[in-house]
Amino acid sequence: MKIAVFAGDGIGPEVTAEAVRVLEALDLPGLELTEGDVGGAAYKKHGHPLPEATLDIARQSDAILFGAVGDFDCDHLERHLRPEQAILGLRKAMGFFANLRPAKVFAGLEDASALRPEVASAIDLLIVRELNGDVYFGEKGIRKLDDGRRQGWDMMSYAEDEVRRIAHVGFKAAQSRAKAGESGKLCSVDKANVLETSQLWRDVMIEVSAEYPDVELSHMYVDNAAMQLVRNPGQFDTIVTGNLFGDILSDQASMCVGSIGLLASASLAEGTCGLYEPIHGSAPDIAGKDLANPMATILSAAMLLRHSLGMEAQAARIEAAVGKALTDGIRGGDLGGSMGTRAIGDAILERL
Ligand code: NAD
Ligand code: IPM
Ligand code: MN
Repeated sequence: MKIAVFAGDGIGPEVTAEAVRVLEALDLPGLELTEGDVGGAAYKKHGHPLPEATLDIARQSDAILFGAVGDFDCDHLERHLRPEQAILGLRKAMGFFANLRPAKVFAGLEDASALRPEVASAIDLLIVRELNGDVYFGEKGIRKLDDGRRQGWDMMSYAEDEVRRIAHVGFKAAQSRAKAGESGKLCSVDKANVLETSQLWRDVMIEVSAEYPDVELSHMYVDNAAMQLVRNPGQFDTIVTGNLFGDILSDQASMCVGSIGLLASASLAEGTCGLYEPIHGSAPDIAGKDLANPMATILSAAMLLRHSLGMEAQAARIEAAVGKALTDGIRGGDLGGSMGTRAIGDAILERL
């Protein structure tokens, strides 16, 4: 079991270290961890945010545990050299097109949500975000118009096969999350009232739905979805959406369940290799201060065991330890507590 560990920038190394401690504590036979440089840290060392050596490690691994990238020192660089290109490049090069971002309220955490406890307690949803297309990967630039004004542009597009493959992931996820005897619920979020890209997205979702008679497909415009996510998040089960909308809605969902420091993610390709990372970034404002909540990264390690290594029982063990820590009142500053990164890691290890 070869696992690549790419810690990255800011709080990335701090939160990744705790997830690694958790993985090591499980004493899994044959576990082999290999570290690689990504992001601003890699740029400063090698002149590139995603060096070829790092990509090689990724290609030789069964799964990747990723911290975060992003470093203000590098924001002046040309776009292809910026730290964020490490994660974008890995997603593209490895074909990780399906991003699963679950959001569920942990028992005892209802009061930490930005929503009223009775609204928050109903949250148990999964955002399936497309990760290889959309406005992220279209042609882009800043150009001079004939009259001398500068114009920035980013091309949004989806080809139908790109929509179809994420649709299947969404329908299958909705199917597997359905309670026995009930149909699955999939809400496709788009902006088809304005965007042609979204009209195609919606048409393809409807086509694919014919193969999943046991899943109820609904559609929602993204602006309404943002509103419904705080009005009544309990109405959602599985959401499938494009790269940009999924990015924004998942940060929003994190505050609905209490903190961005809690949301884990899996980025999957056609095979079993996947990349696992918290949904948050490098949080430069709290980096190096032992203030970051490592739970999102630890829960990402659980997703790694589940999705890439088929170790459901060990994944559930980690999730139970995090859940127990939270019900026992283990909380960092993001959840109104005062525990540091390492102390939260210790608390989870004890419960494991
Ligand atoms: P961010 O997610 O890094 O931080 C947003 C806010 O949430 C900050 O106040 C931060 O302190 C807080 N926060 C984030 N994670 C936390 C944790 N685990 N515990 C406690 N508090 C936490 O978003 P940002 O500030 O917009 O971006 C900072 C940098 O991270 C940028 O360079 C951005 O591009 C990058 N970024 C990277 C990824 C990634 O690597 N996948 C994701 C998002 C942002
Ligand atoms: C995320 C991040 C990334 C994204 C950035 C850092 C490229 O915000 O993983 O959510 O936009 O996908
Ligand atoms: Mn994001």
